[in-house]
Amino acid sequence: MRIDTETIERIKQSAQIAEVIGDYVSLKKKGANLWACCPFHGEKSPSFSVSPAKGIYKCFGCGKAGDSVRFIMDIEGLGYGEALRHLAKKYGIAINESPLTDEQLQAQNTRESLYIALNYAKNYYQNTLLNHDEGQSIGYPYFKERGFSDKTIKAFELGYSLDNWDAFTKTALQQGYNIDILEKAGLTIRKPEEQKQFDRFRNRVIFPIHNVSGKTIAFGARILKNDKNQPKYLNSPETEVYHKSAILYGIFQAKNAIRNKDVCYLVEGYTDVISLHQAGIENVVASSGTSLTLEQIRLIARFTQNITVLYDGDPAGIKASLRGMDMILEEGLNVKLVVFPQGEDPDSYVRSIGTEAFITYIEQNASDFITFKATLSLQEAGNDPFKRAALIKDMVESISKIPDGIKRSVFFKKTASLMQIDENVLIAESNKITLENLKQKDKEAKRQPLPTATQLQQDLPAGVSLSVEDLPSFSEDDLPTEAYITTPQAPVTPPPAPPIGTALHELECVRLLVNHGAKDADPHAAPGVSLMQYILSEINEMNFKTPVYQEILTICRQKFLEGVVVDTHYFINHPIPEIQQEAIHLVAEKYSVSELWLSKHEIIVPTETEKLHQMAYTNILRLKKAFNDEHIKTLMTQLSSSKNADEQTQILLALMEAKNLEKQIAKELGTVVAR
Ligand code: UTP
Ligand code: MN
Repeated sequence: MRIDTETIERIKQSAQIAEVIGDYVSLKKKGANLWACCPFHGEKSPSFSVSPAKGIYKCFGCGKAGDSVRFIMDIEGLGYGEALRHLAKKYGIAINESPLTDEQLQAQNTRESLYIALNYAKNYYQNTLLNHDEGQSIGYPYFKERGFSDKTIKAFELGYSLDNWDAFTKTALQQGYNIDILEKAGLTIRKPEEQKQFDRFRNRVIFPIHNVSGKTIAFGARILKNDKNQPKYLNSPETEVYHKSAILYGIFQAKNAIRNKDVCYLVEGYTDVISLHQAGIENVVASSGTSLTLEQIRLIARFTQNITVLYDGDPAGIKASLRGMDMILEEGLNVKLVVFPQGEDPDSYVRSIGTEAFITYIEQNASDFITFKATLSLQEAGNDPFKRAALIKDMVESISKIPDGIKRSVFFKKTASLMQIDENVLIAESNKITLENLKQKDKEAKRQPLPTATQLQQDLPAGVSLSVEDLPSFSEDDLPTEAYITTPQAPVTPPPAPPIGTALHELECVRLLVNHGAKDADPHAAPGVSLMQYILSEINEMNFKTPVYQEILTICRQKFLEGVVVDTHYFINHPIPEIQQEAIHLVAEKYSVSELWLSKHEIIVPTETEKLHQMAYTNILRLKKAFNDEHIKTLMTQLSSSKNADEQTQILLALMEAKNLEKQIAKELGTVVAR
């Protein structure tokens, strides 16, 4: 089913970028833009920017960029059509669609089919719980006994699976669902050799697992009566849409509360999440019995920097969770820990003492992780000097992982007093560890050399230096500075390699065209002459070497010949995805120049638009120089390999001409830049 253009337009207009992205990360306003830590790669300080005015986002760390539709495609892993449907649903925009035919079902890519099948299964189990005799007599009373209200059952979309080998699979097949998809979704188990297929979940209560946006991606299923021969909970296997290590149970229902309360409670089980939620404590998610992963921590970090771990009182469980807490520290988040009385978990405890007392308990018993670890280990080590020494090392290692210096020193003080040891001993030990880590990082960085700011500098004409002022698109923070390269952020998506040489100037030229092409180049001296016209005439027949820049240049030329001056809007809505992507990259700016300068030097500089003409002129000179430099190089090579005297003379003449041009450009550049 194609969505008609008019509907697409309506969806795009309704889907305000800040609102769409705000569902996934907490955005903070700074200047004209909104900022967050990038949801696509791990980072500690925000380099993900959203421009409400332009309707686009861009991450200056990993390079991901786009509009609201692109964002949904990337974050949900959806195709274009599905992303539009997703947004249409959010904004209540109707799309006229007949039900899916078999062919269309098949034609959809697997991922989307999986979502559809999983959603169908969720409805099926929910319906069985609420409307089927067995659901009513077995599943529903179970939840009631556990104290879950109807509202809670609905909010978590709880369900029930019949005591039957293949009730679900049969019904789904009748409805036209494909057996391969059912199997891939983890719903049906097939034994081809026995020609058997049966339901994974039978005679269990069902807990659907949702992703951040509320799509069902998997299930947890609990047995009703204790049975030593069967696992208490059965979970969906890993599938194309369910990566256990990347999801937290309850995140969809909890995300707004986490953002508002600015703390996330981390529990172990499905029922802990649900009971707390019902008690009005909604900022809670579960790791579902597995040890915490980096991806899960980063998921939480999208909404808050504070995690309080609420674990059962048994010592084994606590020991096992220590590593996870180290990881939280390493990510630069704050972690506290609450231990419950023996035999109680958050679910049982909140039901036994009530919401208020529960909240008080958390407030009074939350200890920071470092203090907790020290106390716990001290008890264990007793007076054994070897154990105590190992313990000190262990503590120092944990503290060394905290990225923030001030926090680190607070913890050194605390630990020193707890362990009755000189703080300086701890710090010396920590320095040793930090040095080791730095050496390691250095090794890694050397394996992947990237051009540095200094190298980029060398690409500019002699005597010209790169400053923020004369090349505003590369504000300091965009340049690949040392920090940018050696801070080893998670290597999820490497940042796009910064352009060098000719490509750098081509980029700047195209950036000017896309951002300011439609504006007057020099409103005072030549009103009515667009920057587009100025640049196109200045660069004349010159062509760009970078394919995508050349493409944009060609579009500008063609449109200009048709008498149309294309503007920014035209490019960021361009039907060719590569062009659109590139345009978005070019339009997104980390800082407006004035903002950067204001904050750094407390002075005001003219904004870009006030000196377009000069910028374009400088840029064109640099382009010409870059092209000429390459021309000279080619001629030199030709000269050294030529054996024919006439030919050599020709080349020499051409070389002289090129050298002359080089001088002219340098002179021009000198005066322009000095201005
Ligand atoms: P618990 O055994 O603490 O269960 O396991 P619970 O959440 O308190 O459940 P109730 O209250 O007995 O119903 C904690 C979590 O570990 C996972 C589940 O996600 C569970 O919520 N788990 C546990 C499994 O995946 N499989 C199991 O067999 C047991
Ligand atoms: Mn429990």
